[in-house]
This record gives sequence, C-alpha cells and structure tokens, in this order.
Amino acid sequence: MFTIGVLASGKGTNLQAIIDFIKEEKLPIRIGVVISDNPDAYALKRAEKAGIKNVYIPPGRYKTFLEPEVEKKYVECLKENNVELVCLAGFMRVLKKYFIESFKWKIINIHPSLLPAFRGLEAWKQALDFGVRFTGCTVHFVDEGIDTGPIILQAVVPVLPDDTPESLHKRIQEKEHLIYPLAIKLISEGRVSICGRKVVIR
Ligand code: GAR
Repeated sequence: MFTIGVLASGKGTNLQAIIDFIKEEKLPIRIGVVISDNPDAYALKRAEKAGIKNVYIPPGRYKTFLEPEVEKKYVECLKENNVELVCLAGFMRVLKKYFIESFKWKIINIHPSLLPAFRGLEAWKQALDFGVRFTGCTVHFVDEGIDTGPIILQAVVPVLPDDTPESLHKRIQEKEHLIYPLAIKLISEGRVSICGRKVVIR
C-alpha cells in the first residue's frame, strides 16, 4: 500500500475526488491522514464519512503560513501516519523550508490555473480579469516558491464569454478532479521523476 496524506483548508472536493478514484479503481493507495488548519473545513467531514483519520491542527498566529512550531506538528503527524506523499488539496497556507525539506519532492499541489500564469490566490478570477481565452489547472511538485515547482500534469479549460468567477472555477474544478487523482496514481506507481525543471512520466 502506498500511503498519502492530504492537507485541506476548505470544501474538500479534490479530497473527495481522490477518495472516490482510489475506491473506484481499487488502487493500492490509502489516505493515512487528512489534516486541516480550519476546524470547520468540510474536508474533515468528508474524511470522517469515508472512515479516514482526520485532524485539525491549529495553524498559529499567522494568516498565510504555519507557525514554525506548528509546521513541526504537521510533519510529525504525517510521519506518524507513514505518509509517503503529501497532497495539498486547497490548503491555503504556504509551506516553509522545514516542511518542504522534511518531504523533499514528496509534496504535490493542485493549482487552478495553467502555471506559470496566475500564481497565488483566486487564480480563476485572475484569469478572467486578464481576459485569457484559455486557462485550466496544474498539478505540480511543491518547492519553496509559491506555485513554482516542476509541473506534473495540466488540463486546459476554455474561458466562455458569459463566465463569472464562479462558473469558471466550477469548470476548472471538474478538470482538477480528473488530473489530481491521476497524478497521485502515477506517482504511487513510481512512474514520475524530476529532471531539473522537467517532470518525466514513464
Ligand atoms: C481548488 O480549486 C484548488 O485548485 C485551489 O483551491 C480549491 C480547493 O477546492 N487551490 C488553490 O488556489 C491553491 N493556491 P476544494 O477544497 O473543493 O478541493
């Protein structure tokens, strides 16, 4: 069994897509733990319903990242639960050096744009405001930058004339729910390696 850990701050639709994909495809992957920085995250309820261990670990006093002492607790919890791959699924805090180095190239993220365009928050809204015709989503390895790590998979979504931020985000999420579980499967099968900035998939 390949054990993953999922970090989520909100609704957890990506977490749900991962849970469902593992089940439907009968993959030898288990979610060892789901951690949230938000006690009200629906992601925690989804984990509970699926019988997956879930914990809220208070993030500390900063808004955009975890307090250094707290990062240690997150890493400890992931290691205690034998996590081999950390999947950020709508986790809205930037991970710092200690965390990244504790799971070097073993942390992935789903981002709602075609990186390197529109890094940061509300990327679907940034795309709409900029007027691009196409946007999408990206699964990438996490490094110390913000949404800068090597790209594993991407999917393209057209921007339609009547799109609102909500309608566009919804269509992007439909693609997220396809490529995120797929990337996890490929990594669990040992088919993904990093070569400089590039990711090679066998
Ligand atoms: C997703 O659209 C994900 O791409 C985005 O948050 C949403 C979480 O949805 N992540 C980021 O913007 C990270 N910078 P979910 O809670 O329903 O999975």
